[in-house]
Amino acid sequence: MNKTIAVIRGDGISPEIVAETIGVLDTVAARFGHTFTYQEAPMGGNAIDRFGVPLPEESLKTCLASDSVLLGAVGGPKWDDQPPENRPERGLLKLRAAMGLYTNVRPARMFADLSAACPLRADIAAKGIDFVVVRELIGGLYFGEHRFDRLDGQERATDVCAYSEGEIRRVARVAFEMARKRRRRVTSVDKANVLATSRLWRRTVTALAEEYPDVELLHMYVDNAAMQIVRDPSQFDVIVTENLFGDILSDEASQITGSIGMIPSSSMGDGSRGLYEPIHGSAPDIAGQDKANPIGTILSAAMMLRYSFDRAAEADAVEAAVDAVLAAGVRCGDIWQEGCRLVGCREMGRLIRERI
Ligand code: IPM
Ligand code: MG
Repeated sequence: MNKTIAVIRGDGISPEIVAETIGVLDTVAARFGHTFTYQEAPMGGNAIDRFGVPLPEESLKTCLASDSVLLGAVGGPKWDDQPPENRPERGLLKLRAAMGLYTNVRPARMFADLSAACPLRADIAAKGIDFVVVRELIGGLYFGEHRFDRLDGQERATDVCAYSEGEIRRVARVAFEMARKRRRRVTSVDKANVLATSRLWRRTVTALAEEYPDVELLHMYVDNAAMQIVRDPSQFDVIVTENLFGDILSDEASQITGSIGMIPSSSMGDGSRGLYEPIHGSAPDIAGQDKANPIGTILSAAMMLRYSFDRAAEADAVEAAVDAVLAAGVRCGDIWQEGCRLVGCREMGRLIRERI
């Protein structure tokens, strides 16, 4: 297999975790006889510094011409004063939209060896956490009009939330298909007691469910879902929801598994090309100190192997190597516990590579 991977090295700790992940991909390539070619695609704060914009045209072209895209994280306080349309985050949103990545998949799985890091009560954690948040990624409030104007002598702001049936159906379909490969339960999260977009969401998902009689469909209001995720996460298999609700619930879901530093994500559209990134941020406070946990990004590369390149064995090998390192008691600072061996980003990467 010959694949071109666009690499967004990003800001803060991102270049460190991306470097370890490329090392892992190279190890996979050597062991399984593949060739990965990497193309740099600067994005985020570093791109603002060098090119004046968060997503240079060249970078977008590189991503669109690649077989898949690997990203660490972008942003940081250094760029907080940028005008809204030139913030690092805007580069990411533009990239998601330009690549047509309407489905964002964020697994929330508790690693057996990390159950001590779970902030939930032991009897709740003991029931297990293994669900997936499927988040709509290029619609809703994020992509509606954002406007400031004046009304009655005061400043006023407006954000528009819109969804079409098609936008809802295509992401819901991904959730139903995924549930078929898991425990066959979809929980659709909305705010249909208040919002028009949520009413359409619920109606559309319910209609689509007729094509999936083997999958159980439940509807839940987002406030209740936020509560149920900490009350009894074992009830969830696949959660499907709109962009903003998914942003919020996926952070909550990742934290209850123990560490946000461990959770990968994939963003995909209609084709096989995806964007793979950890769900954590750029952690500027520990940047350049070899302290970051590269596992979220390494597991994102495993998702790339599985979903974009259709290589389950290679993905399994990476995930098994991560499990083996954790089982051996090796930890980065974010997941360190008494009696474990504390390692930095580079050593973590090396130990994972050694086990592939
Ligand atoms: C995420 C992030 C982004 C989002 C930000 C950085 C724009 O929080 O990927 O969840 O809100 O989608
Ligand atoms: Mg977020």
